[in-house]
Amino acid sequence: MNNFIYQNPTKIIFGEGQIERLSKEIPADSKILMLYGGGSIKKNGVYDQTTEALKSHQIIEFGGVPANPEYEILMEAVEVVKKENIEFILAVGGGSVIDGAKFISAASKYDGDTWEMVKTRAKIDDAIPFGTVLTLPATGSEMNSGFVVSRRETKEKLSMGSPLLFPQFSILDPNVINSIPERQVVNGIVDAFNHVLEQYMTYPIGADLQDRFAESILSTLMNDAPKVLENREDYAAKANFMWSCTMALNGLISQGVPTDWAVHAMGHELTALYGIDHARTLAIIGIPHYKHNFEAKKEKLAQYAERVWGITEGSLEDKAKQAIDKTEEFYHSLGVKTKLSEYAENIEKTAETIEQRFTDRGWSGIGENQIVTPQDARMIVEMSY
Ligand code: NZQ
Ligand code: ZN
Repeated sequence: MNNFIYQNPTKIIFGEGQIERLSKEIPADSKILMLYGGGSIKKNGVYDQTTEALKSHQIIEFGGVPANPEYEILMEAVEVVKKENIEFILAVGGGSVIDGAKFISAASKYDGDTWEMVKTRAKIDDAIPFGTVLTLPATGSEMNSGFVVSRRETKEKLSMGSPLLFPQFSILDPNVINSIPERQVVNGIVDAFNHVLEQYMTYPIGADLQDRFAESILSTLMNDAPKVLENREDYAAKANFMWSCTMALNGLISQGVPTDWAVHAMGHELTALYGIDHARTLAIIGIPHYKHNFEAKKEKLAQYAERVWGITEGSLEDKAKQAIDKTEEFYHSLGVKTKLSEYAENIEKTAETIEQRFTDRGWSGIGENQIVTPQDARMIVEMSY
């Protein structure tokens, strides 16, 4: 196991009815910016629960953060924060709203060009404190310090993070899942599943506990998440699904182990170019990525085959190959297509474009041991057509 330093300061407030605790978590005299998305919270009661809990606080609302939060819109919120002297940001939404809050928190205190801040992954020295009410289990953003923002104008989607960007608290009420459309529940399952794979599907390093944490999150997602799709009244399944998504990307399973993240890097390009839902880009890229990097990843693929899929017959290579097929079948069972051509048209130049973008950014090797060069990325994306 590699050395590590682990600190996650986010307080998790989990369970039914917990939104009413909000008033206890934010200082009474703080001026709050309440950030939300396209309006789902106004239809499912989360807006009412939130404003009721904060009725004694001073709130300024900023709605309309779109999925794949848009830089230009977030900059409007930064202006509000500065003009109104906002002291606390409350994100009420899914990963897009929470990521938006992280960007606003950092950008409001940043001296300099805020897009360059993201592009260069600048060091953040100051940030506005923020908390979240999660409405969509998927990204883990509610308990991590990273964010992803998009810029439609330049078709870019970029990520960064800072230890100053952990939420102070996140409220996780599994009942928010009741109103999530099927497509977004499926996205949540596939996104969280891939978060685990990105931190697990590398090479063995003797980190038994992290491996078993990762495998248990995968198994729980496979077992409980489809139950949520069938029956939104199944509270146990909703709670297990929600907590699995948070645990998949709160930093715990990546301690002391090599991580990959090349699938996300390539996937983000597909969202930037074609607007494909984040999770679906991972289903498109993941399968060819594991095939292309089979030699480097086959030990962990075989371990995953045995422990998660119960495949015990055959050589290590056979098991590893079957694990890739099982993963693709799992996505198909959720109704998720795994070929780029099933989502977008005129895709011929995609692989070349991504190779060029990675080269221009100086990403000479991504993934564990930097095994994915821009040329590899081109080959993987071509395999996904
Ligand atoms: O905007 P509203 O009206 O709220 O509707 C949203 C949105 O249309 C809707 N929704 C959310 N909660 C709902 C609901 N509808 C009904 N009932 C509810 N309770 O769902 C749609 C999608 O929401 P969004 O926040 O975009 O989804 P998700 O949570 O999947 O977030 C995706 C974003 O997170 C980034 C992605 O790249 C993408 O930009 N990621 C962030 C990560 C992080 N910070 O750690 C890691 C991830 O890998 C990911 O890259
Ligand atoms: Zn993701």
